[in-house]
Amino acid sequence: MRVAFVGLGVMGYPMAGHLSRAGCEVSVFNRTTSTAERWCEEYSGTQCQTPAEAAARAEHVFACVGNDDDVRAVMLGDKGILAGVRSGSLVVDHTTASADLARELYAAFANKDVGFIDAPVSGGEAGAVNGQLSIMVGGDAGDVTRARDTMNAYAKRITHIGDAGAGQLAKMVNQICIAGLVQGLSEGLHFAKRAGLDVATVIDAIGKGAAQSWQMDNRWETMTNGEFDFGFAVDWMRKDLAIAFDEASRNGAKLQVAELVDAFYAEVQLMGGSRWDTSSLIARLEDGKPTDKRD
Ligand SMILES: NC(=O)c1ccc[n+]([C@@H]2O[C@H](COP(=O)([O-])OP(=O)(O)OC[C@H]3O[C@@H](n4cnc5c(N)ncnc54)[C@H](OP(=O)(O)O)[C@@H]3O)[C@@H](O)[C@H]2O)c1
Repeated sequence: MRVAFVGLGVMGYPMAGHLSRAGCEVSVFNRTTSTAERWCEEYSGTQCQTPAEAAARAEHVFACVGNDDDVRAVMLGDKGILAGVRSGSLVVDHTTASADLARELYAAFANKDVGFIDAPVSGGEAGAVNGQLSIMVGGDAGDVTRARDTMNAYAKRITHIGDAGAGQLAKMVNQICIAGLVQGLSEGLHFAKRAGLDVATVIDAIGKGAAQSWQMDNRWETMTNGEFDFGFAVDWMRKDLAIAFDEASRNGAKLQVAELVDAFYAEVQLMGGSRWDTSSLIARLEDGKPTDKRD
């Protein structure tokens, strides 16, 4: 299988690596060329100068960039994927972006007889590195089936949610759930400290009960220690929530807690926490600044 991967960031770099290790012939493009050079030193693959060039060499073309504007640039730009991709190929977008853009791209690629699926991921950097991502997919069933074998290189679960855009809508649900949950966990840990309890003992007691969550399992200790220099950045979370709010303004969903938490994240950004993990919500509840291990 000849594949292309556009966007070798925190997520794309290891995902493309899994495809190479799985035996695919991988062509890569990254805007910052030194990253693509480093990738080609670490894995077997070919560096391309434009997304179009990478797409022209592949049957399956993957992208994982930042936001809607970035997706437009690599898909629809002069030297973008649409300009290079061959008829009969399949394009898979792993970026977290809007459902509207996914529908627009689905139609644009269909005009060229190219399949398009929106396939945002959950599981963070660790999920990408360990090949354990959950992937929510929107698009035609046949295209999802076609992409499954290649995406299996880095996925633990691939779920076809519905038509074009449905993958992005499911990712919005994911982010809405996480927003309120992390604030609740922050308040619980904050309260435990103020009450003079030993936090580890409390988590041991409640961590297997109804309050258990992935965030509790994986974040309680770093949150308690004020360590946030890793994980999923606050800037990205606010980008994702903005997409969800935009969608909700059209579908009528009430996102009351998510809106409140988004305002809290804006405060974390003002504290210098734009790149801190989303669990840094607790920082605004605690006295003083959190430990930033980059210092
Ligand atoms: N990090 C996570 O834990 C996580 C988890 C789930 C989902 N996501 C989502 O996955 C996507 C990627 O996240 P990430 O953490 O990998 O981001 P990242 O480390 O910032 O990487 C972004 C990648 O996109 C490229 N890019 C951005 N804008 C571009 C443009 N206009 N033209 C060409 N290339 C462009 C960047 O190239 P340069 O190297 O040149 O900057 C880089 O390769 C985002 O939508 C994010 O919300 C992330």
